Amino acid sequence: MTKISPSILAADFARLGEQCRMVLEAGADMLHIDVMDGHFVPNLSLGVPVLQSLHAALPQAYYDVHLMITDPLRYVPAFAGVGADLITFHLEADSPAGDTIRAIREANCAVGVSIKPGTPAEAVFPLLEQVDMVLVMSVEPGFGGQSFLPGALDKIAAIRAEADRRGRKQLMVQVDGGVNAATGRACREAGADVLVAGSAVFLAADPAAALCELREGGVERA
Ligand code: DX5
Ligand code: ZN
Repeated sequence: MTKISPSILAADFARLGEQCRMVLEAGADMLHIDVMDGHFVPNLSLGVPVLQSLHAALPQAYYDVHLMITDPLRYVPAFAGVGADLITFHLEADSPAGDTIRAIREANCAVGVSIKPGTPAEAVFPLLEQVDMVLVMSVEPGFGGQSFLPGALDKIAAIRAEADRRGRKQLMVQVDGGVNAATGRACREAGADVLVAGSAVFLAADPAAALCELREGGVERA
């Protein structure tokens, strides 16, 4: 069953705890925490204190932390220390991938590696034995509410196929950016295990229905 990770970037930050509780009660599998440093991406979002407060308010939730920062290695202990369950870093960041993976594991978190739209799927193949998840960005990271870039679909399929070929059936493929019921269906068909959705969940009139649509609905493709 496809998992859904609502991105809190689309939440009303004045009512963050309340809105996170609402999407979890509506069936969200985890919470996607977008961390931006204004350097790796041209935007600032939130950091360690926000996760700390959320984790204190909602300790049972699974926290899926997406680091869009230049030096993820430096911040792994801080995010792990305040409740991150899964920490995803970008392959394009400055920190060496091997050291970052080791640090995330030593912090007892699951490990994700992400690639931007311009990075080929093959770039993560050498890491497939070392990570728990690959995040395929389907927009340029930095902002919510952008349109889905269809080039992500072939990358999802290529990573899924290569992981299976290497006997890594349990490796998860996550997709993030512009995911709604229609694009989400295409991602599921391509082999995505976890859909990240910000606007499609937090801005929906009925978030519970939106989560169901993302998990098993979507418009038939012609
Ligand atoms: C973009 C973030 C995404 C974003 C998704 O840099 O990584 O998680 O918030 O937002 P939507 O679903 O609105 O495209
Ligand atoms: Zn994200």
